[in-house]
Amino acid sequence: MCGIIGYIGSKSATEVILKGLKRLEYRGYDSAGIALGGSELFVEKTVGKLMELERALDCGRLSSYTMGIGHTRWATHGAPTRENAHPHCDCTGKIALVHNGIIENYDILKQVLIKEGHVFSSETDTEVIVHLIEHYHRSDSLVDSVMHALARVEGAYGIAVMSVKEPGVIVAARKGSPLILGIGDGEMVLASDASAIVDHTRSVIYIEDNEIMEITSSGYRTYGLDMKCVEKRVEAIDWDIASIEKKGFDHYMLKEIHEQSETIVNAYRGRIIPEFGNVRLDGLKLTDKDIFGIQRIIFIACGTSWHAGLIGEYLIEEYARIPVDVEYASEFRYRKPVLRQGDLVITISQSGETADTLAALREAKSKGVKVLGVTNVVGSTIARESDGGVYIHAGPEIGVASTKAFTSQVCVLVLLTLLLARRRDMTPEEGKAILRDLQLMPQMVNEVLANDEIRAVAAEFKSSRNFLYLGRGIQYPVALEGALKLKEISYIHAEGYPAAEMKHGPIALIDENMPVVFIATHDQVYSKVLSNIEEVRARKGKIIVIATRGDDEIRKYADHVIYVPEVHGMVSPLLTVVPLQLLAYYIAIMRGCDVDQPRNLAKSVTVE
Ligand code: AGP
Repeated sequence: MCGIIGYIGSKSATEVILKGLKRLEYRGYDSAGIALGGSELFVEKTVGKLMELERALDCGRLSSYTMGIGHTRWATHGAPTRENAHPHCDCTGKIALVHNGIIENYDILKQVLIKEGHVFSSETDTEVIVHLIEHYHRSDSLVDSVMHALARVEGAYGIAVMSVKEPGVIVAARKGSPLILGIGDGEMVLASDASAIVDHTRSVIYIEDNEIMEITSSGYRTYGLDMKCVEKRVEAIDWDIASIEKKGFDHYMLKEIHEQSETIVNAYRGRIIPEFGNVRLDGLKLTDKDIFGIQRIIFIACGTSWHAGLIGEYLIEEYARIPVDVEYASEFRYRKPVLRQGDLVITISQSGETADTLAALREAKSKGVKVLGVTNVVGSTIARESDGGVYIHAGPEIGVASTKAFTSQVCVLVLLTLLLARRRDMTPEEGKAILRDLQLMPQMVNEVLANDEIRAVAAEFKSSRNFLYLGRGIQYPVALEGALKLKEISYIHAEGYPAAEMKHGPIALIDENMPVVFIATHDQVYSKVLSNIEEVRARKGKIIVIATRGDDEIRKYADHVIYVPEVHGMVSPLLTVVPLQLLAYYIAIMRGCDVDQPRNLAKSVTVE
């Protein structure tokens, strides 16, 4: 997704903005630009990575500017070209604007503006906003002009605007695309997310939907779209810059895979009651009456988070005996879902900003259903609009491919399952056994991380053109997640299936060129998975198995075996996914792929 930076203060705006855009690179982009302001505007924009923009800027000559806006663009309307890169200017070149989001009625507005004599220089939807502002700014203040302009646009936006008529003022506005204001000492830093602010301050204000902010170096005023003043609370970012450094790892993704031995602990810390085999999740804001009244749970998410929801389904149905549905957010919001009293919707989102998941949350709330959020980013829109929720405390996840957030999501769903199950049939002893194994995760994850077999498997199959990932029961969603990891960072086609489903079509794909990854840990379907492995062997498929440490039998069936320690089935996905994350990582590295910023992908899909 696009990244926005704004700065106003006494430092070199060029420096602050470029550094901030680097912090936002992980969001994914294809072009970048900067506008420096005051009594005159300087604008530069380039296609490609930020270094192209740095090359085009003579930073020394530009160091006198102390206010500006910057942007990394993830193309939605119009190819990644210099003309389509942000900032966009009005006809006079005296107003500059950057935008994250989609203006749905831009075509109609563009025709009206062209008839009024405005000249457009790009194919983007964004450019209509700056020309609308130009129209009003002839007589109105910048903030009033922005308010009038936004009253005419439909869609999602996070914008920052400057005008030479009002040097020392940046106007920001938000509807659907996140914007945060960092409050510094004599300076303000505006950004799409906190990772670009925490270099300067940890005091922040979350701009809400339909709010407009007039920002100067010494203060800010916030308005609703009706221009009535809005009081805002200053909050504190609860992590520091060290959290988003690579700490000696080659890539953020590898660092985050290795962090899982800690982040899983962070997800359950302060929430487990081992002596009673129970948990507390006060953030859910569910009374006992609410909990006993739950008739059905509906998980709503996208991508990796949807896979976590699928694991939640297996856990809650097996241990808490509550019916669960798992919905793709993008499907849920456009179907006519049947929601009843007793339904509990739980959205799962690492970023807390995924447009489809947010829209589904709002749709469910509009039908009167209680909605909870399992999110990672504190203060994210989904977190703030949910009726309650649980933060997974994974820390900032910079790698586009989600790893530590996934295991932290699963850990939280284990806790949720325990909370529900212990109010039903689960005994204290059962709860204690699960919590005992959950607390063994740090050393068990580290054991898996130390396994060198995975790199060797990656070397053997790095040139394969297709992969199958197969699992049964709770390991089926893990197979899906393993396939997604591989395809999104190595660009190899990979599919996950329930292992038994292979006979209903995919088995036609099996030959000596098809590596098949099985998750065959010791559980109640182990023998069934062995049969599936035999079926693949009979057709010369190459077999890679994730198996339970101590299982020597499996070696007769597999070309490669990667062992994980034996743990309670409920927490086993926390371990079985780790070799799959590493396998994807090593194959992608061996193929020379950009692991942290894979092509075409964005960290947070804040557009539909
Ligand atoms: C996962 O590796 C992908 N980056 C993607 O599928 C991601 O999980 C999905 O876009 C949902 O993001 P969210 O959890 O921030 O809502």
